[in-house]
Amino acid sequence: MKQEQLDELLESLTLDEKIGQLVQLNGNFFDSNEKVATGPVQKIGIDKDKIHLTGSILNTLGAKELKTLQNAYLEKSEKKIPMLFMADIINGFKTIFPIPLGLGCSFDAELVKKTAQIAAKEAAVSGIHITFSPMVDMVRDARWGRVMESYGEDNFLNCEYAKAMVEGYQGNNDPHSTIASCVKHFAGYGAPLAGKEYNTVELGERSLREAYLPAYKAAIDAGCHLVMTSFNTIDGIPVTANKWILKDVLRDEWGFDEVVISDHSAVKELVPHGIAAHYEEAAKLAIEAGCDIDMMTATYSNHLKDLVESGQIDIQLINESVKRVLKLKNDLGLFENPYRGANELEEQQYVMCDEFRKVAREVVSKTCVLLKNDSVLPINQNQRVAVVGPYASNKNLSGMWSINVDPDKVVTIYDGLKKQGKHVKCAEGYPMMDDDSLFESFGYGKKETNLTGNKDEKIQEAIDIAKESDVVIVAIGEHSHQSGEGGARGDITIPKVQLELLKAIKKLGKPVVTLVFSGRPLALKDVAENSDAILQCWFPGTEGGDGIADLVYGKVNPSARLSMTFPYSVGQCPIYYNHMSTGRPALESTHSKRFTSRYIDIPNDPYYCFGYGLSYSEFEYSDITLDKTTLTNDSTITASVTVSNTSDISGEEVVQLYIRDIAGSVVRPVKELKGVQKVYLAPHTSQTVTFEIKEEMLRFITKDMSFASEPGEFHIFIGHDSNTQNKQIFTLES
Ligand code: GLC
Repeated sequence: MKQEQLDELLESLTLDEKIGQLVQLNGNFFDSNEKVATGPVQKIGIDKDKIHLTGSILNTLGAKELKTLQNAYLEKSEKKIPMLFMADIINGFKTIFPIPLGLGCSFDAELVKKTAQIAAKEAAVSGIHITFSPMVDMVRDARWGRVMESYGEDNFLNCEYAKAMVEGYQGNNDPHSTIASCVKHFAGYGAPLAGKEYNTVELGERSLREAYLPAYKAAIDAGCHLVMTSFNTIDGIPVTANKWILKDVLRDEWGFDEVVISDHSAVKELVPHGIAAHYEEAAKLAIEAGCDIDMMTATYSNHLKDLVESGQIDIQLINESVKRVLKLKNDLGLFENPYRGANELEEQQYVMCDEFRKVAREVVSKTCVLLKNDSVLPINQNQRVAVVGPYASNKNLSGMWSINVDPDKVVTIYDGLKKQGKHVKCAEGYPMMDDDSLFESFGYGKKETNLTGNKDEKIQEAIDIAKESDVVIVAIGEHSHQSGEGGARGDITIPKVQLELLKAIKKLGKPVVTLVFSGRPLALKDVAENSDAILQCWFPGTEGGDGIADLVYGKVNPSARLSMTFPYSVGQCPIYYNHMSTGRPALESTHSKRFTSRYIDIPNDPYYCFGYGLSYSEFEYSDITLDKTTLTNDSTITASVTVSNTSDISGEEVVQLYIRDIAGSVVRPVKELKGVQKVYLAPHTSQTVTFEIKEEMLRFITKDMSFASEPGEFHIFIGHDSNTQNKQIFTLES
């Protein structure tokens, strides 16, 4: 539709029709089965006579279903404005990939982009127009359940991934293979106090801009079409009503002129937040702040009309929001084809096709992180293997946001191992959790976490097959509902009952390989002390069993590295590599042993640091050489290092470049990742890796809030992970 036609359409709408475009419900308001109840599903009190005006729905899936819905909707729609179909496609649509925190460990933006392209194809042919992804919240606290949806604690990587995901989803806007993306949760949702879900966020503007905003900006610069407001406050004002962040920053400073949608019920929740005394005020604050669509509440539907007719808000505010929604529908071609890519035949042909599952298997093997290996892995196919534990043959490998997964298509760990090993036995042995009554109170229904049958007999069964084996694989971890939205934990260890199993197996004196399934970095000290090898598997998705078997049997050499720090214990949270030095850094301070920045009862260092991960190969680094040690605004320093594979196994090393600004007009992190290169090295070969250092890499938000570099001394590190001490020094001259 041409712009003038769009303008005429807007002109022609009644106020009720305009407001309807700003309302999002889920499919079951349209006699369809909403596949998943996300957010607080409750009776939302919308006037039944207005439901047919709704502008968009979420989380109803399937080409046939959505075409039927659109037809029925358009029949009743006087102005024939098609509905938008949005969904939570977080780590795959039907072919489920590893959770985003696992994808973040690939250190491979191109690979991550491929997952978005596949998800987009499957979603587009299934009738979806928009995904509520990528989630690019910066995370530093493993207690928060939604770290599993993020890509980790580093902005350099998060910006790369944000761009990759938006480009992967949106591509060339082809209706049959792309969908629009919605970056979330804008902004700062990943920093709740105490890691507690939906909790207050206390960030100064500098920290917000420096650490928390860049990845959203990267998604917007990559062209994402929607932004979702976050539940939290910024400086005391909930984002959904926060003009500073939604207008001054997002629209005026960044130039974002597309649709802003609230998170689920966030408009209505301005009342419990205590920023609105009643729902009419909530509607006023949200529309004035520039929140275009009210997701899953009746606040806009029930109150905007009165606000306009009583002169409390200007109809222009409504018109601006409706204009953005109509433009989005037009940009997606819905006025010409309201079904966009929905196509039952293509749905059959592409969804979960072998080609996509093959990519998913490769992604699994590139996102599981080898944390420990005392010469146990890889195993060979002739060894007798016992696989035990609640994840040994569990189909629930996809994480909390895999709303469309087909569990019967998931390759379990046992499935994967027995395809490659000649002697593999399996016994789950133990329940998943110490007590899952909490889940039942959440309405997750049947006990899916306790084993049927007699526990002692199950344990004995696991012990017996372990005794007959050459190596025992213990598949343990969190339940998928122990992370994700609403999944904050104050104890980030594996359920105690599973540690019991691990210790019982360890006592047998067999080599123990532990596979850890979790949506967050866990405190793994007890696991490590009872394992000879540990593979952090996250929630690996549909191809979990095959991808992990490829690593265990050595078909693939692990190359993933941690994109989020693993704490020594929950007491260290939040903990992250790019922290500030403080005036009394524990290692360097000369003040005294006692009076330094440290704990007296646990170590200061994490258990596994950012960027860490092992390979079956061994890599060594030479000292760094710099072609010059003085940098100016228009010159470049070339930093070189020689990486050698000193082992007999070819493998991929993730070479990491960190820089430290020794003194700035504000304090600076002790290290910041500024570059990554993955190099593949054959046995006993070396390669020189170079990084170009430029002035713009040194810019930050200075004392006067400008984004600039400052002259002075810088330290450069190149190594295997954020602990590297392989260092050189250079100076930036003004
Ligand atoms: C949820 C989540 C958000 C999701 C939305 C729709 O509450 O916070 O990430 O996209 O609701 O399901």
